[in-house]
Amino acid sequence: MPGLRRLLPLLLLAALCPPALSLRHEPSKIAVVGGGIGGSAAAYFLRQKFGRGVQLHVLEKAALGGRLDTLDMEGDSYEAGGSVIHPVNLHMKHFVKELGLLSTTHEGSPSGVYNGEEFVFEESSWSFINRPKKLWHYGLNPLRMSMWVEDILDKFMRIYRFQMHDYAFSSNERLLHALGGDDFTRLLNQTIDEAMQKAGFSQKFINQVVCPVMRFAYGQGAGVNAFVGALLVGWLESGLWSVKGGNKLVCSGLIYSAKAEVIPGTVVSIEPKTRHKRGGDPVKLYEVTYNTSSGLTGDTYDIVVIAAPLGRKMANITFRNFDPPIPEFLYPYKQIFITLVHGRLNTSFFGYRDPQAFHLGAIFTTDSPKLFINSLNLEPPVGDTGTGGKLPLPSAVWKVFSNEELTKEQLNLLFSSYDSVKVKPWLAYPQYSAPEKFPPIVLHEQLYYLNGLERAASAMEMSAIAARNAALLAFHRWHGHSARVDQEDLHEKLKTEL
Ligand SMILES: Cc1cc2nc3c(=O)[nH]c(=O)nc-3n(C[C@H](O)[C@H](O)[C@H](O)COP(=O)(O)OP(=O)(O)OC[C@H]3O[C@@H](n4cnc5c(N)ncnc54)[C@H](O)[C@@H]3O)c2cc1C
Ligand SMILES: *[C@@H]1O[C@H](CO)[C@@H](O)[C@H](O)[C@H]1NC(C)=O
Ligand SMILES: *[C@@H]1O[C@H](CO)[C@@H](O)[C@H](O)[C@H]1NC(C)=O
Ligand SMILES: *[C@@H]1O[C@H](CO)[C@@H](O)[C@H](O)[C@H]1NC(C)=O
Ligand SMILES: *[C@@H]1O[C@H](CO)[C@@H](O)[C@H](O)[C@H]1NC(C)=O
Repeated sequence: MPGLRRLLPLLLLAALCPPALSLRHEPSKIAVVGGGIGGSAAAYFLRQKFGRGVQLHVLEKAALGGRLDTLDMEGDSYEAGGSVIHPVNLHMKHFVKELGLLSTTHEGSPSGVYNGEEFVFEESSWSFINRPKKLWHYGLNPLRMSMWVEDILDKFMRIYRFQMHDYAFSSNERLLHALGGDDFTRLLNQTIDEAMQKAGFSQKFINQVVCPVMRFAYGQGAGVNAFVGALLVGWLESGLWSVKGGNKLVCSGLIYSAKAEVIPGTVVSIEPKTRHKRGGDPVKLYEVTYNTSSGLTGDTYDIVVIAAPLGRKMANITFRNFDPPIPEFLYPYKQIFITLVHGRLNTSFFGYRDPQAFHLGAIFTTDSPKLFINSLNLEPPVGDTGTGGKLPLPSAVWKVFSNEELTKEQLNLLFSSYDSVKVKPWLAYPQYSAPEKFPPIVLHEQLYYLNGLERAASAMEMSAIAARNAALLAFHRWHGHSARVDQEDLHEKLKTEL
């Protein structure tokens, strides 16, 4: 049988390398719900994994960028949402480089911590005396904190290696456990206050340094989970930067680079469907219904990635006819208000009779019921190269963070005069608690959810990490590559691999 002999090598070849040359067809259409940094990064990584053939739709109900947005004031633009990026945020760094965008650094002006009556700590304008001053004030706490946080950051950085080697995780718990083992689980199980007390930090240091930083970044005090707390403290060191022209430029850039089509519309429901093709296997699809300016419409997709916080008050998507049903998402988000004010600070409100003596560019606050603001800082325009530690101009743009909208009376207390005010309310970030619980990543066979990882910590970089994980996960699950999903002891394995 000469025919069989000729076929044999081919059959052998097929038997030897099946998973790599998967017999499954590529998906033809993928939907990403949300055009924030999570959704745009997802589009970018999905294109990278699935190649040129797949059609990518990004469904966005408002503007690209989501929680990255700018407000215009007096001829300049200012970040009103996510603003600073840490030097070790490697995905964000890569995007900016890849897209040919420019960055501006924040050298940071002197800051103080106000408790409603007085400043409990003030940096001087001369940075060389700040270190001895801090040491005197808080003993060895600042130094010990750097060491404590460094260990956590080192473990966190493992994600880049895992993702570079194509590994994905099917749950947020597994992802975090693969990075930091039980240490990370323990951090997520307690508040930053508890964790730092146990680690031997003084209560004064926690109240006057750690809590004000949490209030600034998340509008919540030292009751947040210790993971977000430690990561934030680690990320708030020097070298912070942002994207020149506005961080949201990364989102439009990634979507353009991914050759994804943006469809303006609000996704209202998703429903699984099975289409029976004549002669072929039935095809499983998702019917996505969205509301556009010309009414309700929709389309079907092989894979759907949701990159917007789910919940009635958030993305509000109805999951129809799933078996088992997809449970409601009851994970609360914290409302905060950003107020940009072009005006002169009322320095006597902060106890300075002489405005000339006031040199602070950022005011953090302790957890005090007397206070109606979380923080206040001089905000550089997005086109600018930072305040460079210079003295604040008598009249400049200040950014105020508060949990309630500021009243006219409150504005008149904070500012001795002002000419323009702009307010932006946000459902900004998760309301953190401990022990922290996570929503799933895999909602259904080919339906994925990115924003659960925000419950560990909310930041642009976290959304980018979740996006790459979802793209890898979708790819491996589509092709049945189970060896790249949920590997235990990856850190040890990769030590020996290359
Ligand atoms: C005031 C503030 C300050 C911050 N500061 C920082 C910072 O300094 N550094 C940092 O790293 N992070 C910061 N963050 C956090 C950071 O901005 C967010 O973690 C990140 O931008 C979240 O991106 P995302 O794409 O996951 O979600 P989002 O940006 O919320 O994107 C979701 C998108 O989905 C769209 N959408 C929602 N529902 C639907 C629907 N049904 N159909 C279609 N579209 C829908 C929305 O319009 C939105 O565009 C800050 C956030 C806020 C609010
Ligand atoms: C964290 O808490 C959960 C319950 O909320 C528990 O199951 C788990 O064992 C805890 N893990 C650690 C490391 O403390
Ligand atoms: C669709 O949008 C229109 C106007 O934006 C609104 O009146 C209508 O109620 C929306 N429909 C649904 C089903 O959400
Ligand atoms: C969410 O969607 C449901 C169904 O479309 C609708 O009845 C409800 O009013 C929406 N809720 C909010 C808060 O928009
Ligand atoms: C400034 O703050 C002081 C102290 O709180 C307050 O008495 C005063 O009314 C405020 N406004 C102006 C314009 O000085």
